[in-house]
Amino acid sequence: MKVDVILGLQWGDEGKGKIVDVLAPNYNVIARFQGGPNAGHTLEFDNIKHVLHQIPSGIFREKTKNVIGGGLVLDPVILKKEIDGLAKFNLDLRKNLYISKKAQLILPTHRLLDAAYEASKGNEKIGSTLKGIGPTYQDKIARVGLRVGDILLENFKSKYQKLVSKHIEILELYKFEYDVTSLEIEFFEAIEFIKQFQLIDSSYFINDSLKNEERILAEGAQGSLLDIDFGSYPFVTSSNTTTPGVCTGLGIAPAKVGEVFGIFKAYCTRVGSGPFPTELDNEIGEAMRKEGNEFGATTGRPRRCGWIDLPALKYAIMINGVTQLIMMKADVLNIFKEIQACTAYKLADGTITDQLPYDMCEEDITPVYEKLEGWNCPTDDITEESQFPKPLMNYIEYLEEKLKTPISIVSLGPKRSQTILRNISSPSMV
Ligand code: GDP
Ligand code: IMO
Ligand code: MG
Repeated sequence: MKVDVILGLQWGDEGKGKIVDVLAPNYNVIARFQGGPNAGHTLEFDNIKHVLHQIPSGIFREKTKNVIGGGLVLDPVILKKEIDGLAKFNLDLRKNLYISKKAQLILPTHRLLDAAYEASKGNEKIGSTLKGIGPTYQDKIARVGLRVGDILLENFKSKYQKLVSKHIEILELYKFEYDVTSLEIEFFEAIEFIKQFQLIDSSYFINDSLKNEERILAEGAQGSLLDIDFGSYPFVTSSNTTTPGVCTGLGIAPAKVGEVFGIFKAYCTRVGSGPFPTELDNEIGEAMRKEGNEFGATTGRPRRCGWIDLPALKYAIMINGVTQLIMMKADVLNIFKEIQACTAYKLADGTITDQLPYDMCEEDITPVYEKLEGWNCPTDDITEESQFPKPLMNYIEYLEEKLKTPISIVSLGPKRSQTILRNISSPSMV
């Protein structure tokens, strides 16, 4: 048995939550491997719309085990709110939710530091979700962080105080005003609350599950272009959002990675600051935002919109070893008579390339576009591929040819039911 992976190929919000929820019945275990509450994964079914932040998107499937892996940074306060928010669905979270003891804890002061660092950057701010992601990963790498397993130690409070006193010294350097007292009350309440769930060693859990022939799907957060090593640095998040993150975040060997499903929108969006070559700061981008309801699931911020970027997608497919593609939100393009795809970048010195430049921020990139016929008709009643309008089928085949990777799923709406499976294959799904 191998671990299949689903991860975003763009700047996040590709629709990972929806597809993980759709595929979950084929798997025994869904495991998040990185990120934290900066993620917002939306699921829609049976007239329910629900956004998950740290809990894996298999949680609504009764038989699925859901693992918060060791590669995450976990905010116990947000986790408690998420769990409270799920109470009305009568899910058995004490049975179906597993939390790695190795996940790092986001402390209230990590969130304050995030805000202080962003404020100090002025116009150059990253546009962070301000959930404390960067400062918590910083402490992990600096080897001073606190982990979920530490909450079971007798000296947890003194470890906590030691780290917080360091954070307060930094906050004072930044002259950042803060009040940590009320935040600490809810933090310690949440710490007590999460003790009732299964705290596990996720490396053994995942590898034992594989040995027991269980099917595992790793759920990514953010997108490949936000990866700390491979994204549009420094406008990135602080974790490996790409396939290598599955190995470090769950404790599996690289050879145990099975199918890699790369998920992308039929166009492109980005929320927060940073380079976005195909951004349409005009009425077309505005129409995409309106039609696609492109507002952040975590922060509510409007998402920047633009045409699909094939150099960026090819790069993401290469880095991740993507074996199958999933195209989302094709229905959003229903409104256009003509659509465009960026096939190359023209650089300031006149070079035309389909490779990403070393520094996307410093380089002056002009996208080179190819025009395609739009389908310009509703897609609501489509239930199978044979009903696709011809220009949509052409777009799919065009992308498959450009990206040299098959598109296995096409999504035509936010609901579970609005999902067209083409020729999806996984050895672990037979
Ligand atoms: P994630 O972070 O990758 O899970 O994606 P988000 O949940 O942040 O954003 C995707 C948004 O698009 C959500 O509001 C989904 O309900 C919605 N969505 C997902 N798939 C489709 C689709 O095929 N068509 C449309 N119109 N909306 C979709
Ligand atoms: P999902 O999992 C889209 C962006 C932020 C910011 C940058 C750094 O829902 O796809 P951070 O809070 O991590 O320090 O922010 O990354 N970002 C996301 N954008 N979707 C996400 O997650 C994101 N998580 C972080 O907007 O630009
Ligand atoms: Mg999202």
